[in-house]
Amino acid sequence: MRILIVDDEIVALNSVRRLLKRRGFSNVEICDNGMDAINRIKNNDFDIVLLDILMPEKDGLEVLKSTKPFKPQTEFILVTAVDDIATAVRSVRLGAYDYLVKPVDNERLVLSIERAYERKGLLAGLAGARNESKAVETLEAFSGIVTQCPRMTELLTYAAVMARSGNPILISGESGTGKELLAQGIHRIDSSVDAPFIAVNVPSIPETLFESQFFGHIKGAFTGADTDYPGFFEQADGGTLFLDEIGELPQKQQAKLLRVLEEKSVRRISDTKPTPVDLRIISATNQDLDKACQENRFRLDLLYRLKAAHIHLPPLSEREGDILLLTAYFQKKACAKHNKAVNGFSPEAVDILIHKEYPGNVRELAALVENAVLLAESGFIEPQHLGVEHVPIPPFARTLCSLTEDATVHFAFVLAHNKGDRKKTAQILGVSVRQIQRKIAMMKNDARWKSLLDDN
Ligand SMILES: Nc1ncnc2c1ncn2[C@@H]1O[C@H](COP(=O)(O)OP(=O)(O)OP(=O)(O)O)[C@@H](O)[C@H]1O
Ligand SMILES: [Mg+2]
Repeated sequence: MRILIVDDEIVALNSVRRLLKRRGFSNVEICDNGMDAINRIKNNDFDIVLLDILMPEKDGLEVLKSTKPFKPQTEFILVTAVDDIATAVRSVRLGAYDYLVKPVDNERLVLSIERAYERKGLLAGLAGARNESKAVETLEAFSGIVTQCPRMTELLTYAAVMARSGNPILISGESGTGKELLAQGIHRIDSSVDAPFIAVNVPSIPETLFESQFFGHIKGAFTGADTDYPGFFEQADGGTLFLDEIGELPQKQQAKLLRVLEEKSVRRISDTKPTPVDLRIISATNQDLDKACQENRFRLDLLYRLKAAHIHLPPLSEREGDILLLTAYFQKKACAKHNKAVNGFSPEAVDILIHKEYPGNVRELAALVENAVLLAESGFIEPQHLGVEHVPIPPFARTLCSLTEDATVHFAFVLAHNKGDRKKTAQILGVSVRQIQRKIAMMKNDARWKSLLDDN
């Protein structure tokens, strides 16, 4: 592993170099200014660059910005004397792997370097794995996840590689995008068949019960504690603890979770000794946790721990190609569940499914399809089974006519579409309400057009 340390303070440079040498990193180089650093990083293949932020002339962020795009394989760890969340977030956006505050704890530094190196290896392996049959095999573990979207396939391949690292994984995405489903898949990839998967919905645990629920207690710890009780961490030992809606974790508990991650042990309430635990944490959120950190609602150090790997599930609107595939899948499931047979969806119903908005994402589509299967008597599923009133389309078929006649037909169409609303019609057509009224009066008096006006 080839490491470069960049810092304008020679003393700091030498002491970090000594530390790393003691820890077995033999190939460590140093550099004491930003300009030099840019040239050396661009012209060499460093695995890791430890970069001080506050330096005269070119500061660390500038060095990062001008080199990372050329050296995507080099991992950057930024070091700073000021603990400023905005800078931390900015450096991560620019591609830094980690952000450490001086005085840097030796263990934390070594851990960060090891992790960055590990990630680099994983990403390189991932690029190679894409074309191999191994990737396909991996995806079988995610067989419950229906998709043909290339972005999703790529993301699942990444998830599979990350699953094997055993590191914490953060899954973000809107509600109903399949975060829990993915967490279960990741768990299956890297655990024995009987390993526990403990799912905890964080906001549903009252703050007063947090300690006993997560850490457990021993018999007699408090009134009512009449048996020993292992908390969630211990229940998930040897498997996965899935922390859903992690963004809702209160500040005080964030510190406790961080400690468990660092110490890999828990202490039950009233117990004198800690119990070691070996578990993987997968957390999920539909919030922007970077923003939560900026607003001091979430601890940045905890966020880094939780997102050794970060997977963002795109909303259904960004994987439109999956809508019909998922529809067929949910239709089959619903038919089996309710012992019903339907032929499929009518073309109008398909049109509605494709163009609808899904704020509840895959979950919403699943419920919609299941209800439609229940409502359809037999044959095909029609728009009304999807809760869409069947609007009879007036006979506005195209005919060979003059432009004036065509304009009248178009006028009637827009008016009918707006259920006779003069104001809306005027807005759409770009004319005044009075012109609309005049046009309607004219049509009412003309046998050719009268029938197009419905009862409006
Ligand atoms: N790609 C998919 N293939 C098949 N089923 C899916 C897929 N994505 C989601 N689902 C199904 O949609 C439902 C919602 O998924 P899940 O509970 O994993 O979402 P979530 O992101 O955790 O939602 P929330 O944020 O609301 O907790 C589940 O029934 C799940 O099985
Ligand atoms: Mg969920």
